[in-house]
Amino acid sequence: MAVKQDISIIPSVLPVDFSQLGNAIVDLDKAGVDRIQWDVMDGVFVPNLTFGPDVIASTRSLTSLGFEAHLMIVEPDAFIEKYIAAGCELLIIHAESTRHLHRTLSKVKESGARAGVALNPATPIESIENVVDLLDMILVMTVNPGFGGQAYISSMEKKVVQACELARSVAHEIEIEVDGGISATTVAGAAAAGARALVAGSALFRHPEGLEAAVTEIRSIAAATIALQGN
Ligand code: DX5
Repeated sequence: MAVKQDISIIPSVLPVDFSQLGNAIVDLDKAGVDRIQWDVMDGVFVPNLTFGPDVIASTRSLTSLGFEAHLMIVEPDAFIEKYIAAGCELLIIHAESTRHLHRTLSKVKESGARAGVALNPATPIESIENVVDLLDMILVMTVNPGFGGQAYISSMEKKVVQACELARSVAHEIEIEVDGGISATTVAGAAAAGARALVAGSALFRHPEGLEAAVTEIRSIAAATIALQGN
């Protein structure tokens, strides 16, 4: 089975009060998340601007959790080494952000990081068929990237199914991740489609009972959904 089956709850730190970023990283670690996603935005690929490598590096010593950099930027090749040096062990490249996706992903692997590819809602799964041998992870965006708190696009579930089918075409393990509008009310659809890595921002940070309750709730709904399917 080349699709990783472990459920991972991955917070996006986009909703955090950035004056409290370090405390948020410590709180997320205590809340039992599996790794942390940094939404890197350059104001060009997406209409928002966020974290440079130095911001990420400043929190690296606060947790042993893995960091993934979701690179929503137009020149990803120029920043691969910088985000790895900042402490990110998984770099997510948008298929739409580089003319030479195979070369960019190869550079991520050669630099010693795991390689993920992200697909915007309009981008078909066929766009990554020729780079699947390089992939450790496929991220199916379930919102149009740039902001947190957007509505989940449920029609992306069929692309999650396609991503699982593509992952099963290779022998090595590939993680299937979704990101955008993931919450207690939407996670079942994503998990039923085959997603196992679940990125959430507002659903975690805005939960009335706090981070740990939110993480537990989303994880248990995903697990129950998968159990019902028998896989
Ligand atoms: C959107 C980001 C997402 C977003 C998720 O561009 O890539 O990670 O922060 O936030 P929610 O879970 O609130 O949709």
